[in-house]
Amino acid sequence: MSTTLVTGIGELATGDPALGDGSALGLLSDAAVVVDGDHVAWVGPARLAPDADHRRDLGGRAVVPGFVDSHSHLVFAGDRAAEFAARMSGTPYDGGGIATSVAATRAATDEELRGLLAARVAEMRAQGTTTVEVKSGYGLTVEDEARALRLAREVTAETTFLGAHVVPAEYADRREDYVALVTGPMLQACAPHARWVDVFCEPHSAHAFTADEAREVLLAGRAAGLELRVHGNQLGHGPGVQLAVELGAASVDHCTYLTDADVDALAGSATVATLLPGVEFSTRSPWPDGRRLLDTGVSVALATDCNPGTCYSSSVPFMLALAVREMGLTPAEALHAATAGSAKALRRNDIGRVTVGSRADLTVLDAPSYLHLVYRPGVPLARALDLG
Ligand code: NIG
Ligand code: FE
Repeated sequence: MSTTLVTGIGELATGDPALGDGSALGLLSDAAVVVDGDHVAWVGPARLAPDADHRRDLGGRAVVPGFVDSHSHLVFAGDRAAEFAARMSGTPYDGGGIATSVAATRAATDEELRGLLAARVAEMRAQGTTTVEVKSGYGLTVEDEARALRLAREVTAETTFLGAHVVPAEYADRREDYVALVTGPMLQACAPHARWVDVFCEPHSAHAFTADEAREVLLAGRAAGLELRVHGNQLGHGPGVQLAVELGAASVDHCTYLTDADVDALAGSATVATLLPGVEFSTRSPWPDGRRLLDTGVSVALATDCNPGTCYSSSVPFMLALAVREMGLTPAEALHAATAGSAKALRRNDIGRVTVGSRADLTVLDAPSYLHLVYRPGVPLARALDLG
């Protein structure tokens, strides 16, 4: 395995407070990194860098840990641009449009879905994302959910079974039969291709699942060897956060509507609150108070939720800008949340930082500092560094 010395890094956000300036981002200036195969072998000031087989000079650019997008729904066909336009004119989001994406996804061939998925992952990588979690949830039959996860497994180890996305139309009058399907044959078919189980726990949507149904789905998933994630508190105050904390889920995602009790429960738990600001943007929902979560000691992650309904953006830099402008995070906190924070939401300690032994997932910026990610919104500054 050959080594590469990456030098000319004007500013390196290591994500390790023990390195550099001592902040949570662990900033080092005039830095270098030695990459050995797929992992980081050395990090430090360029003047102390050891020799390597190859050299790569970044010309003073900033480097940050590759973004970890810990929440996406990339396996789908078609789009819902008209639904988005209607929302911008005042039609609220209630999850009903998911049926449109289910129909389009079921009708697509494996090759079509594989191509769409590959294009979306490439689009993410071109914007600096090096790890992405991918959920099923637009199949909602045993075969279609298993297919989505098989395809997702081809592009990521972070696959999530979301058969409990919504109750499909054909089960609208017998929801309990759909929960039995999800917790029975569908789970059996999907578990071999998934790491995680997730559920859309949302009493404010007739399409989504109650706390009791969600608990049943999550416990069945856990019994099948899957780890837990929850979509919660997206459309109104509800039980999702408390359920996630009660069951020790790795993450509860959205957190748009939180009570004091929800914030306290999160603060006393190991469950990460994952903020998805592209969803508030694309659904005209209120902005959750990210500042309050951080000040209360809650672990926060940032992700895109890239999906055809509530946020068809694959851009982590866009999420950083929204989180800073609308949720009260500093640029440093936002970057930390989208790297180390979202790595924690995936229970991974080999990504989200640039430290010795971590995966060599480096994102380079056409800018001298990570601050430019937020300072220059909408400008394509970030890309995953290819050393191959
Ligand atoms: O995370 N809330 C549920 N699921 C997705 C949206 C899915 C869709 O509308 O297609 C979300 O926002
Ligand atoms: Fe989602």
